[in-house]
Amino acid sequence: MTHTSFVPSPYLHSKNGGKVSWKAPSNIALVKYWGKKENQIPANPSISFTLDACATTTILTFTKLQKKNKEFSFDLFFEGKSKEDFKPKIIAFFTRIEKYLPFLKEYHFKIETENSFPHSSGIASSASGMAALGLCLMSVEKELNPEIDGIFFNQKASFLARLGSGSACRSIEGDVIQWGRHKEIEGSSDLHAIKYPFKIHPIFKNFHDTILLVDKGQKQVSSTVGHNLMHNHPFSEERFKQAHLNLSELQVVFTEGNLDRFIEIVEGEALTLHAMMMTSLPYFILMKPNTLKIIEKIWKFRKASSTHVCFTLDAGANVHVLYPENEKDVVFQFIKDELVVYCQEQQYICDRIGFGAKKL
Ligand code: PMV
Repeated sequence: MTHTSFVPSPYLHSKNGGKVSWKAPSNIALVKYWGKKENQIPANPSISFTLDACATTTILTFTKLQKKNKEFSFDLFFEGKSKEDFKPKIIAFFTRIEKYLPFLKEYHFKIETENSFPHSSGIASSASGMAALGLCLMSVEKELNPEIDGIFFNQKASFLARLGSGSACRSIEGDVIQWGRHKEIEGSSDLHAIKYPFKIHPIFKNFHDTILLVDKGQKQVSSTVGHNLMHNHPFSEERFKQAHLNLSELQVVFTEGNLDRFIEIVEGEALTLHAMMMTSLPYFILMKPNTLKIIEKIWKFRKASSTHVCFTLDAGANVHVLYPENEKDVVFQFIKDELVVYCQEQQYICDRIGFGAKKL
């Protein structure tokens, strides 16, 4: 597949209007994407668990214009309210994907979107948001070309979502998703994500992710800026190599259900991500004192309890606490007793591995 595979032939059907709706989940990376080339091409491959509870629902209403417009024509509503300040992001997204969806200037769109998680939770909604919008646009395209099959539909939705926000391409399907070319993973691509094609031991089914909201504010450094700081970064080449190696090793870990090695890789990835931030120029720190307190508590509890609870971090201060289904009672009790106190307003979200976006 090259990017031209996603440029459609002239549509054989026409449609005056309609309404489509999708609910797309967020995802949490185990091997992190950090650093990109032009056009949202990742500098290294990544892998994630698709989540279930954290999701964006988008309704897209489309109405054919009398004639093709010069500009994109759309209204945007977030949680029922008109959202002018989100518009530039959508215009940038539409501009990037117009080549692949030539109908974009032929319709007026009403985009109504809402998140299942609180707006000011420090949880980025770009992954689920761009995935939901990408899927809605694919549903419109499918009305213009009903021959599109399910495999291509998901691939192109992932391809479009990637152009909105890199990690969004991993939010179309579940439950373990891989993105970025890796020599041992057949079908892997920089252009779109794929369902992880290797065996996954049952211990990883129903994995839990309790998200501790340590800092609900806006991040001081956006992920776009962070990715760009990987250019000319003193450790970038080694880091990119490490991501490839970790993906190779995860194949064995997933097959065998080796939780101890899983923990080492996942926690190592989270800390490496933040180490990259701390060693870029300018350097920055997104963790907060309570992020570290939580990590220390997890390490202490894991040792004392012989459980397999571990953590990962995204580009922020919040902590994702990961644990298998068969340890959920004891670990969740520990979270409530010892970790929730470090959350802002004691807030956390109980999530778990999920199975991908749903058409509504
Ligand atoms: O998709 P972006 O550009 O917001 O970048 C996401 C980067 C991380 O969340 C830190 C890692 C990842 O792979 O999701």
